[in-house]
Formats: sequence, structure tokens, C-alpha cells
Amino acid sequence: MIFPLPKPLVITGMMGVGKSTLGARLADYYGLDFIDSDKEIVQAAQMSIVDIFEKFGEDYFRSGEERVINRIMQRPLPFIMAVGGGAILSPQTKELLQQKAVTLWVDVDLAVLWKRLKKSKTRPILHTEDPLATLEKLYQTRRADYQQTDIHVNVLTDEDIAITCDIVIDKIAQYATK
Ligand code: S3P
Repeated sequence: MIFPLPKPLVITGMMGVGKSTLGARLADYYGLDFIDSDKEIVQAAQMSIVDIFEKFGEDYFRSGEERVINRIMQRPLPFIMAVGGGAILSPQTKELLQQKAVTLWVDVDLAVLWKRLKKSKTRPILHTEDPLATLEKLYQTRRADYQQTDIHVNVLTDEDIAITCDIVIDKIAQYATK
């Protein structure tokens, strides 16, 4: 299928919403490259995200995240990229993506997210005394930033990714004809 957008599609939203799975499926559908910015960060640092947070802290991770996303955005051809849940909190990244990408926010109910994330060992930002309270706070405080994206999809239940993917394909087509 021909990709109808003039810019790369960048998928945002909380951890656990399924950005990478969705992005890979969409890329397959449109015949585009799929890039996972977290994976690129791990590759550049030669270290897992948990280790980066533990050894150098969140600020260090965030500046690496800004640099990696900035580098990926220099690619000339359209592509689909999933970015980590905190990436668009950086004003620099937010502005870059607002200008050079079409941004998609995947929103999932907090209860569904918690079900998916409570056993995750790979989300260092949830390595706190009360991970549910931390998740809830991030979920609430980040919404204002996610809301500024171009396309929104609300996954209300633990629905199959194939259904979400079809909904997003329709929304992309609608956005392209606006
Ligand atoms: C983070 C989300 C993670 C990763 C890092 C921080 C966040 O990515 O970038 O652990 O602040 O929400 P995913 O959203 O892909 O899990």
C-alpha cells in the first residue's frame, strides 16, 4: 500500500501501549522501514536502557534520546518510528517532530497498561517503591503533551493489535486527505 503521508510517521504514547508492535505492522503494510528509537539508543550506548538509567541516570538517557531521535530524523526517505514514552517531553524533540513528522498518540486505559507493565523489569522509570502510583502520575502528567500530536487512537480494551492497526490505517488515510 502506498504510504499517503508526506512525512515520516512517529508513534508516541505511554510505555506498554504497543508502539513497537504497531509500528512494525504499519511499516510492513506500507513497505517502509521501521525504527525503534529505544533500540537505536541501546545500540549507540552498547548498554541496556536499565543499565543506562542505573549507571548514568535519567538526564543522561534523555540527552542520548534527543540526539538519537534527531539523527534518525535526518533520514531522507519516509519511515515509521516508535519513540520511548518520555521522548516528546523534551521541548527540542517535540518541536522537531511537530515540524518534520506526522505524530500519532496511542492511548490505552491505565488498568490495561498496569496489567501489561506490572511484571516488566525493563522499564527503569517504574523501579520505584510504588510503581502503580508512578505509572498513574506519568499517565496523567504526560497527557497534555501527547494531546498535541496529529493523530490520536484510543485503545479502550486489551484489543488485538490487528484491530488497532486497521483503525490507525483509516486514521492515517483521513489525515492525509485533510
Ligand atoms: C520511558 C519509556 C521507555 C524507555 C525508557 C523511558 C518513559 O520506552 O524509553 O524506559 O519515560 O516512558 P517505551 O515507551 O518504548 O517502553
